[in-house]
Amino acid sequence: MTMLAPLAALFVFTCTLACFAHGTDVPVGGTAFHIRSKRSPTKYGNWCGLKTTGIGLDCCTCANTIEECRACLPPKDQLDEMCLRHDMCLCDQPPSNVLHKCYCEREVYNNIKGSSVCRQYSGWKNLLKRAQCSTYAASMVALFGGLPCWCDSKQKYVPNFSSC
Ligand SMILES: *[C@@H]1O[C@H](CO)[C@@H](O)[C@H](O)[C@H]1NC(C)=O
Repeated sequence: MTMLAPLAALFVFTCTLACFAHGTDVPVGGTAFHIRSKRSPTKYGNWCGLKTTGIGLDCCTCANTIEECRACLPPKDQLDEMCLRHDMCLCDQPPSNVLHKCYCEREVYNNIKGSSVCRQYSGWKNLLKRAQCSTYAASMVALFGGLPCWCDSKQKYVPNFSSC
């Protein structure tokens, strides 16, 4: 665990830079942009990562159902499934032109934090996969705990989902 903390901090730092850079450089708006400006810059599975998403494929857009998108690009494990759900959550309207929505961030945070999401990798043969899964899950928890997001009930941005 002690080794995860600096790693998580690095992810948060990198993503904070990326988020603010996006906020100033790129006009906010457009489904493709806000869908792709999520999470940490590293990739995990088919759905986890800054530019890692199935949304935008011919068989998966925001007009498709979550089942259709899952069939279009199957998540590789339970953590990847959480990322799929998060991406689909960001499709919800309104408003469409925000980068992060507190209820999506809260959901993914609560589903991953302290969960058994990586325990599907059991036994010594899966030790590496489990470590990769746990590391990525920890970085997501750290990231989403400190990510400014749009709060629907307050109709404004707040420092993180727990301020919503
Ligand atoms: C949200 O931000 C507050 C204030 O910065 C902090 O105390 C709290 O721990 C954060 N929530 C999470 C879930 O990390």
